[in-house]
Amino acid sequence: MALTDFDLVLFGGGGDLSMRKLLPALFNRERCNDLPATARIICVGRHEWNREAFLKEIDDNARPHVTGSVDAPAWQRFCDKLVYVMLDAMHADSYEALAKALRPDGPDARVTRVFYLATPPSLFSHICQHLAASGLATPTSRVVLEKPLGRDLASARQINAEVGRVFEESQIFRIDHYLGKETVQNLLALRFGNVLFEPLWRREWISDVQITIAESLGVGNRIGYYDTSGALRDMLQNHLLQLLCIVAMEPPTSATPNAVRDEKLKVLRSLKRFTPQLLTQNIVRGQYRSGHVNGIAVPGYRKEPNANQNSRTETFVAIKAEIETWRWAGVPFYLRTGKRMADQLAEIVVRFKGIPHSIFAQHNSSFQPNSLIIRLQPDEGLQLNLMAKTPGDGMRLRPVELELDFRETFKMPRMDAYERLLLDVLRGQLTLFMRSDELEAAWEWVEPILDHWEQEGDDPLPYTAGTWGPAAASALIGRDGLQWREESLPDL
Ligand code: BG6
Repeated sequence: MALTDFDLVLFGGGGDLSMRKLLPALFNRERCNDLPATARIICVGRHEWNREAFLKEIDDNARPHVTGSVDAPAWQRFCDKLVYVMLDAMHADSYEALAKALRPDGPDARVTRVFYLATPPSLFSHICQHLAASGLATPTSRVVLEKPLGRDLASARQINAEVGRVFEESQIFRIDHYLGKETVQNLLALRFGNVLFEPLWRREWISDVQITIAESLGVGNRIGYYDTSGALRDMLQNHLLQLLCIVAMEPPTSATPNAVRDEKLKVLRSLKRFTPQLLTQNIVRGQYRSGHVNGIAVPGYRKEPNANQNSRTETFVAIKAEIETWRWAGVPFYLRTGKRMADQLAEIVVRFKGIPHSIFAQHNSSFQPNSLIIRLQPDEGLQLNLMAKTPGDGMRLRPVELELDFRETFKMPRMDAYERLLLDVLRGQLTLFMRSDELEAAWEWVEPILDHWEQEGDDPLPYTAGTWGPAAASALIGRDGLQWREESLPDL
């Protein structure tokens, strides 16, 4: 579907996210000729840049993040669409300059107006109020909210309420870039475009599910933000819970936004609440110490530049979650994420139960239950692990893998998560964006963990950089007689 003409206003347009992700993503769409010729990307910020200085910033800071070679005509077309407006988001007067840069929007004007707030959430409310007061927030305009969407339930509710005073829910796009990843959408296709898995996708046949987002990177230059956030707020409350929803939700009646979001909400509301006992038993938090990642020595979290030497911020969290529904009762969902881990990967592992009766028992010691691995990164794909007979004499079985590598199969250029989500915003498709009640339900579930940590006042468990986290994370899953996937691989 071709895009209609648009004015996309990027608040925080000179900031890190815009430079690293949003502008390169928009350039990629330009290079594929997806952006209408007269579309405009209006970067808004507090720097006093004239056009030349602004374009130099873009050249220095956004262009290096573009994948592949940048062809000059496409870059020129992209730059022609860029406009810079100096604006202090807190001051009403500043919005006049923005008003001048915008074209009339609405159904007759045929220009879609989008405000993308890539700013700290403390500014959301002010920006929305000023947009309303200056008449720029029209009934047909859209607003995109970047995470962090709050730091607890109360602040998330406040954001929802304040933004909701200016924009209708159907105008609000709460972004979680994990939902824009190719494999996440492919999981929807796998589950609801095939009959094969759905009958097995339940407690009778699935023993457990593991969802891991492991990063070998540290906190980089984001320590200021990260130290007030930590892995639970930064990754688990949003990305991991969204993945859990896609794995566990009931088949929606259609792919319309509310049909999908209703089902995700039910999952979040069915998550087993934490009792004091579960808070101590089912959660592990850790913080990396110095170590080696890919052979390179790296400092511990507390020794990162500008770090607080006594920081109690967790850089790793593992949780055993349960979903209290007929489909999932008794199936553990293990969620895990961390920085400075042994590998950079994101995957969902669905492990099936063993066969009910083996006719091969005498000959086989290497019997493994089936599992399905949904790989989000680095190489997007699916792997189905089956048992097969080894060729030749006798009846010996061994595990084999059916691989589906998306890159190989589709031989098409990849689209970055932000590219896809930006296109969805510009087309007005809300399916992959969180609704206000989903956001609040996710905070409702994690908040007791935050409260518990605060009351407890303990340090997170240390783990060596370049490992899979504290040993307690293995014990967490080990108590159920299970292992994390990398622990069950033969070559480890
Ligand atoms: C962001 C977090 O939302 O996701 C970062 O704030 C994290 O801390 C990043 O590094 C991971 O995203 P991706 O797509 O690189 O796995």
